[in-house]
Amino acid sequence: MKRFVIDTDTGVDDAEALLMAFGHPDVTIEAIVSVAGNVGVDKTTPNVLKVLDAVGRDVPVYRGCDRALVFRKPNAEDAHGSDGLGDAGIPESARTIEAEHGVDALVRLANEHPGELTLVALGPLTNVALATRLDPDLPNKYRELVIMGGAVYAMGNTETRSAEFNIFYDPDAAHIVFSEWLNITMLSWEATAENPLTLEQTNTLSAISTPRGEFFHKITRAQIAMIRNFLGVETLFIPDPLAMAVAIEPERVITRSERHYVQLELSGYSTRGQTVVDWRDRLGKTANTTIVISVDMQRVYELMRQGLE
Ligand code: RIB
Ligand code: CA
Repeated sequence: MKRFVIDTDTGVDDAEALLMAFGHPDVTIEAIVSVAGNVGVDKTTPNVLKVLDAVGRDVPVYRGCDRALVFRKPNAEDAHGSDGLGDAGIPESARTIEAEHGVDALVRLANEHPGELTLVALGPLTNVALATRLDPDLPNKYRELVIMGGAVYAMGNTETRSAEFNIFYDPDAAHIVFSEWLNITMLSWEATAENPLTLEQTNTLSAISTPRGEFFHKITRAQIAMIRNFLGVETLFIPDPLAMAVAIEPERVITRSERHYVQLELSGYSTRGQTVVDWRDRLGKTANTTIVISVDMQRVYELMRQGLE
């Protein structure tokens, strides 16, 4: 059984990833911590509760940080809607969150269950960075840190083009994480762009007549339209579900990966937030990251479908 703690800026693809995790028989979700990113934490937090309503499960939810450590990047409402879930009119949940701050929860859970939990980070790394400062031994207390984030060939999705959104939103937090953790698995924007869902796959998932299938359909349709309008393609990018699939079944999902040293660029007009990879291992630094290069997309699709059925 894999025991997950999930840190998320619940937007559309985060919600898709949560549906996948809840639908897998070998996964237990111990806690979910919200963070600002796609939209503000006053929206990402209730969005987590809406996902719990959709799956009918009870998991402790903690509110995390409401802004980046230093720089504050505008949110991603253009991709996720003003409410973060595609403005699909998902009703507010009656559920409540825990009183403890999300950063404190990340530290406490690791100390209560040392070596047993996998931390899956689907948004900016603000919470993870602060937790690492509160408990410098945190990297040794989580089994692994799986991150959706980064642009390993500088082919990102932000206005600088060289950075990916989660990292660009809080590059200082990412710098702390990549400086302190040695057990990172990274699902990059390039891997995302190379592995979209086809329209046929998306339509099949949207047609699943279960509450989860209907939820998926509602939250994704606006994003599909946005991709069609902006990029002229009929597809759906699924960064967070890819990262979740890697966390759940690395042995089946990852078809190629490499371990290298990754560091953050924190300055530069067009490079702040870039995840710089030492592909030739010339810096003499200890490799801190397993970079996922290719995946079994059919297996990822099956995991998504399983989460909706
Ligand atoms: O760049 C993609 C990432 O940024 C995804 O995690 C998406 O949800 C946003 O957080
Ligand atoms: Ca996310």
